[in-house]
Amino acid sequence: MHTFAVARAVHGIEPLVATEIRRSRLGVVRGVRHREVWFEASAGADLLGLRTADDVLLAAAVVDGIGHGRSALRRLALAARAVDVRSLVDSGNGVEVSASFVGRRNYTRFEIEDAVGAELARRLRLPYHSRRDGARPPRDAMAWRVTIEGERALIALRAADRPLHRRAYKTASIRGTLHPPVAAAMAALARLGSVGTVLDPCCGAGTTLIEAQASAPGARLLGFDHDPAALRAASANARAGADGGAAFRWGVADGGRIPVAGGSVDRVLVNPPWGRQVPPRGLLARDLGPLWREVRRVLAGDGLVVALVHDGIPHGFALEEAVRVSLSGRHPVIAVLRKEAGRVRR
Ligand SMILES: C[S@@+](CC[C@H](N)C(=O)[O-])C[C@H]1O[C@@H](n2cnc3c(N)ncnc32)[C@H](O)[C@@H]1O
Repeated sequence: MHTFAVARAVHGIEPLVATEIRRSRLGVVRGVRHREVWFEASAGADLLGLRTADDVLLAAAVVDGIGHGRSALRRLALAARAVDVRSLVDSGNGVEVSASFVGRRNYTRFEIEDAVGAELARRLRLPYHSRRDGARPPRDAMAWRVTIEGERALIALRAADRPLHRRAYKTASIRGTLHPPVAAAMAALARLGSVGTVLDPCCGAGTTLIEAQASAPGARLLGFDHDPAALRAASANARAGADGGAAFRWGVADGGRIPVAGGSVDRVLVNPPWGRQVPPRGLLARDLGPLWREVRRVLAGDGLVVALVHDGIPHGFALEEAVRVSLSGRHPVIAVLRKEAGRVRR
């Protein structure tokens, strides 16, 4: 049944997901849509290694003509009944369904889930676990997804036992921590190749650097933050990662006074503090000017900065590439920056 795989992604980074699929030879990309990359998976491809995607699903049915009226529920149930389940050997402990759609409709997500789930469970001869009233299905249930965009619904089976964005290494967190696939997209844009030193001067729980390590296994990774609790989280997460944390150096420091030598850093990956959720503190409390001046100082002449910015391009940098993303109802930009030639006012 699984002709197509669908990588679900944060809106804005779909083209980066498509590039990762091609580069990693995971399959042949057949289409890029809003929050989805459709591809034909190569035989034996390790789909679960995809870092820029939120989730990978195996497409079971696409249903058109899903309107706002309640007749949509019957259409979806019929489509679920027609799903070819013969190739599904690992059937898990029952069936669970999670549905999502945008906008107002005359039915709820739970009604979709139950309509589709009951049919799939019947076909698979397994119990169905509804999510109504906050019920939690067993962890090892087969996880089906129904996503409706406009008039088109996709019924699909999750390839992994958890969404890909839920990284095994992320055992500790902080407020405002970065969504790992977005950090992976930043690492991809940073063209890490064989770089020597990568820095995050506001590293929080360490997500950018841990994601960078996957594409730059030999790099020295330096993470600083004003908040000691953030650094404890970062170092716990790095220890749970690929090399047990050996390549990382963490330290408490103000982003307005980064404790590294001028011109010694090849790449800076950063999502600086902003807004009320993670307010800038110390030398950055008034504005982020001191951070950007320090980033300019420590960056090598041919270095690159990849920053998630909410307030435009910082002074003293030239924009190479910009990718606008949708994150928790906001639309920041992943900016790829080079140092602008010439002196910058202090
Ligand atoms: C948006 S969060 C970074 C999240 C991080 N990328 C992650 O994945 O967890 C911003 C971070 O900036 C830190 N911060 C605030 N003021 C700072 C300063 N003056 N110098 C360095 N870090 C600062 C906060 O403690 C917070 O961890």
